[in-house]
Parts: sequence; C-alpha cells; structure tokens
Amino acid sequence: MTASAPQITIRDLRTIDELDQLKAVEKEVWGMADEDSLPMTVAIALKAAGNIFLGAFAKDKAGKEKMVGFAFGFLGREHGQTTIHSHMLAVLDAYRHLDLGAKLKHAQRERTLAMGVHEMTWTFDPLQSRNAHFNFAKFGVVSDTYKIDFYGPETSSVLHRNGTDRLWVRWLLNSRRVRDRIAGKSAGSRAETLDALRLLKPLVRFDGKGQPARAELAEALRRERVSIEIPGDILAVEKTDVALAREWRDATRWAFRESLKAGFFVAEYCRSLRGQQGPGAYLLQRGPLADFIAG
Ligand SMILES: CC(C)(COP(=O)(O)OP(=O)(O)OC[C@H]1O[C@@H](n2cnc3c(N)ncnc32)[C@H](O)[C@@H]1OP(=O)(O)O)[C@@H](O)C(=O)NCCC(=O)NCCS
Repeated sequence: MTASAPQITIRDLRTIDELDQLKAVEKEVWGMADEDSLPMTVAIALKAAGNIFLGAFAKDKAGKEKMVGFAFGFLGREHGQTTIHSHMLAVLDAYRHLDLGAKLKHAQRERTLAMGVHEMTWTFDPLQSRNAHFNFAKFGVVSDTYKIDFYGPETSSVLHRNGTDRLWVRWLLNSRRVRDRIAGKSAGSRAETLDALRLLKPLVRFDGKGQPARAELAEALRRERVSIEIPGDILAVEKTDVALAREWRDATRWAFRESLKAGFFVAEYCRSLRGQQGPGAYLLQRGPLADFIAG
C-alpha cells in the first residue's frame, strides 16, 4: 500500500532489523526511557505469534528506507470477544498531517478484519485535542470507560507529564458508523454534534480566562446529553502553567467519571467549538452503548 505522500510505503514489519527501528521512533515521539520502551525479545515473540506490527517507511535520495511511523496491536479478550488492542501508534513530527496516522489505522483495521476479529480497542489521554479529533471524528470510536492513572501517576513520556488518565475506546470495525466515518461521510454527524453542543451547558467549560469551570452536577446529569470541554492545546498549557494543566485533569476526570457512572457514554468530539484556536468538546449521550453502535 502506498500513502499519498510520495515515497512513503506502509507495510507489515518482517525482520528483526525492522522491529529494531521501532525504538528510534518511540524515542523521538514520546522521549521514552529505555525501561519503558517495548523490549526487543517481547516484540519478536509477539510478532512471531501473529500480532500486528505495521511500519510507514520513507525513502531518502539514495533509496535507503527509514521508519517514520508505526502501529502495533496485540490480541486481547474483552467482554467475551477477541479484540486487537492497539498499544502504540506514532508518526514522526516531520511526517505528520499527511494522513499517515490514518493510513496506518486503516491498514491495522484491514489486518484485524482479515484475522476474523471485528473490534479494536486502544487508550488515549482525553485532554489531548489532537488525539480526540483523530479517534472520534476521523474513526468513529466510542467509549464508556475512564481509567485513572492507567500507567501509574508518572511516566517517562514527554507527552504525558500530567498523570496518565485514559479513555478506553472501542472501534467497531464493521459497524455502519465506522464504515461511514472512514468513507468520509461524517459531515452530517459533525453538524448534528455541533448543534447539540451549542444547546448544552457544559459540565466542564473553558471559561473566558482558559480555566475549567464546573457546572452543577445533578442538573447536568438530568439531561439526555452532556458536554465536556477541553483546551485546544493541553501540551502548551502544561509548558506554561503546570498547576492549570492539573486543574484541567482534575475537572475533566471528575466530569467523565461522574457522567459515565450515571450511564452516559462518549459519542463524539468536536475540536473547533469557538474558532480555530478555541476549546474542543466531547459529546456524551445517555443510554446503552450497544444500541448506539448497533445502528
Ligand atoms: C496521533 C498521530 C499518530 C497522528 O498522526 P498524523 O500522521 O498526523 O495523522 P493524520 O494526518 O492522519 O491525522 C491527524 C489529524 O489530527 C488533526 N490535528 C492535528 N493537531 C491537532 C490539534 N491540536 N487539535 C485537534 N486536531 C489536530 C489534524 O488536523 C488531522 O485531522 P484532519 O485530517 O481531520 O484534519 C501523531 O500525531 C502522533 O504520533 N502523535 C504522538 C503519539 C500519539 O499520540 N499516538 C496516538 C495515541 S492514540
């Protein structure tokens, strides 16, 4: 498969040398300490046992290949079904916004379906607007599970200096929602999401000064839908004001946990609520997740 950017190819990793190149990408993207990166012996065994390792390779002028992104997922068993849990997806900074992340995800989906597996799961930090857009808007994931400090209170990843809370997302590979989303038929649902968000008083709101303002919980949870706003760029907030980033973590952790506990699930994310640089918002909906994804 050839990606739209010239000279970039996405393919399964085949050799120990190719698996070895994962480390350099992991280091550059997450700044991971050696003890937190995927050990080679484990990678080799996982690959040999049939798990999915995909690489995106760019060719330099001399024709030499370099890994510029990868996706890695392993088999899991969740709610009585076999799943692929996508543990890592990364694209080097210089190769971002070329749709490579999406192409790696599509290739992972194809491999997973070919194995007879119909669901992928993964986790992401719900304060990261880029990932929220990538996961919900581009791929149509859903979530009803919030994990507090999933990897422990601290990690060596430079992208995660504000705890390791995660949303556990489900990608129902053959559902109509997902097929429509990856076919680019999302304009209708985006407009509907924006309309719904405009009518709601957020449970956590990005106030005029960039701080999280909490709404009255009982009142918000009486409705059929709830919204939770996040800053457009939490990494920039972390760099300039660690305490404010922590406030955002605490407020959004509270909002997600309370609304999921009350029977809501996370259905959508819209990144440009009030102009390009403004906050984004999640839309949560009451009701059984199973009914929503069956449609
Ligand atoms: C997530 C990642 C793999 C995406 O790679 P990529 O090749 O840039 O992905 P794509 O080009 O397919 O899509 C990126 C999308 O994010 C959007 N985006 C970029 N920055 C954004 C931001 N600050 N807020 C909201 N959306 C943002 C882009 O506009 C694009 O969406 P669009 O195609 O609808 O416009 C890459 O950013 C990465 O390696 N991040 C660090 C590691 C990571 O977070 N891994 C994933 C864990 S779930």
